[in-house]
Amino acid sequence: MRLKDDFLWGGSIAAHQCEGAYDEGHKGLGIMDLVTVGAYGKPREIHKQLSGSAHYPSHQGIDFYHRYKEDIALFAEMGFKALRISIDWSRIYPNGDEEIPNQEGIRFYQNVVDELIKYGIEPIVTLYHFEMPVHLVKTYGSWVNRTVIDNYLTFCKTMFEALKGKVRYWVTFNEMNHLDPQTEASDIFTYIIAGLKYSELENKKQTLATIGYNMTLASCLAVKLGHTVDPLNQIGCVFGIEPVYPVDCNPINVMNAFKQMDRDFYQIDAMCNGLFPAYKIREYQSQGIEIAVSEEDSKAFRNGTIDFIGMNYYASSVAEYEGAEEGKSALFGGLQNPYLEASKWGWTIDPVGLRYLLNYTYRKYGIPIIITENGLGAVDQLTEDRKIHDEYRIDYLKKHITQLKKAVEIDQVDCFGYLTWAPIDLVSATTGQMSKRYGFVYVDLDDHGEGTTERIKKDSFDWFKGVIETNGEDF
Ligand code: BG6
Repeated sequence: MRLKDDFLWGGSIAAHQCEGAYDEGHKGLGIMDLVTVGAYGKPREIHKQLSGSAHYPSHQGIDFYHRYKEDIALFAEMGFKALRISIDWSRIYPNGDEEIPNQEGIRFYQNVVDELIKYGIEPIVTLYHFEMPVHLVKTYGSWVNRTVIDNYLTFCKTMFEALKGKVRYWVTFNEMNHLDPQTEASDIFTYIIAGLKYSELENKKQTLATIGYNMTLASCLAVKLGHTVDPLNQIGCVFGIEPVYPVDCNPINVMNAFKQMDRDFYQIDAMCNGLFPAYKIREYQSQGIEIAVSEEDSKAFRNGTIDFIGMNYYASSVAEYEGAEEGKSALFGGLQNPYLEASKWGWTIDPVGLRYLLNYTYRKYGIPIIITENGLGAVDQLTEDRKIHDEYRIDYLKKHITQLKKAVEIDQVDCFGYLTWAPIDLVSATTGQMSKRYGFVYVDLDDHGEGTTERIKKDSFDWFKGVIETNGEDF
């Protein structure tokens, strides 16, 4: 088996990280509009309301809102087959609970999608990528409250209808899987997913479990809704997952590693098997957490299974174990691997881990997978003659694509696309920096939002163009 002729090469971006124009087009305030810039080791501050003196990177993004035509033309020049975008909920329903959607917001996304179609680029649309109207958090308490599921479904219906016939691939949620009642979370992780700070949560375990359950249910209901609006819709959900390796072959360490990795899969189980897993409910009960699955919910799980799995892959980790020394990875917890190097932000670089994870996930569920994010966040130097020689990025992507191809060609994994994060420099989700760059296209902006926003092609631009031209045969 080789990569399919219509393999979806391309990239992924998210509204709050690129659009800017946070108060234009009648957009409401979104949760990420209240988060300041941080740095590696310096958490982003999360504010309750806007403060005049703070720098909030989402307000400007990379100005995609005004420059999307130019950016899409660059993606088209690279030969992109697909671009994954997200819809900012607060552009469509500024408060989240209005009866009438904001037409200006809808029109913006229709224009973006039309622009993609003009170049034959398949739009892949994420309905929730850390973009929730602040009003829903303040008024209803976010996903803890089931009313928010109804608001989300209203928003989804609006977008399914507004983009009907133009968009075939939909993603219900990006990375809802990082909330786990068993582990301490950082404020930023609970915040980006649900607009709530971990340190301020009452009854932490119950709250995290309820949010995880309600979001899973919301995804299943959205899948059903999307299939009803247009049976041709292919609807998936995106997960940020990583292999968790045992430190050695001591069976107890192997078991612990399995357990740590498994925590990220219960929602995929629910969405692929059409059933909220009984093992999770029992695990919750043993910790005093109550989750009641009603008849109606069971029906929703049964009828809302996903058509594909989206996989965001950046790193692997080593499971924590008795006697382990300090040495947390900066990503989802776990320890650094002595066999592997890490990025400047502490994310372990593990191309083989991608092949491992593709195999693991495909053997478990047997449905198509798309790599929805993969890439290297690095510091790029702009030379005097305005070039960026990012051979480290090319090296990273080359190694990952090589492993992806092995997974498809040797291991027979049904993977139908590879989307890089991100094809153009944009605001980092975890740190808010611009200097953590991922793109094939450089954006002249620094961490304080200073710069011209000029777009400059990096060396990796032509390299990736070649990958696409040869459908991954020659790179
Ligand atoms: C993924 C998110 O988890 O990681 C993206 O879906 C994010 O939104 C990406 O940007 C990379 O993380 P960061 O913090 O380097 O931007």
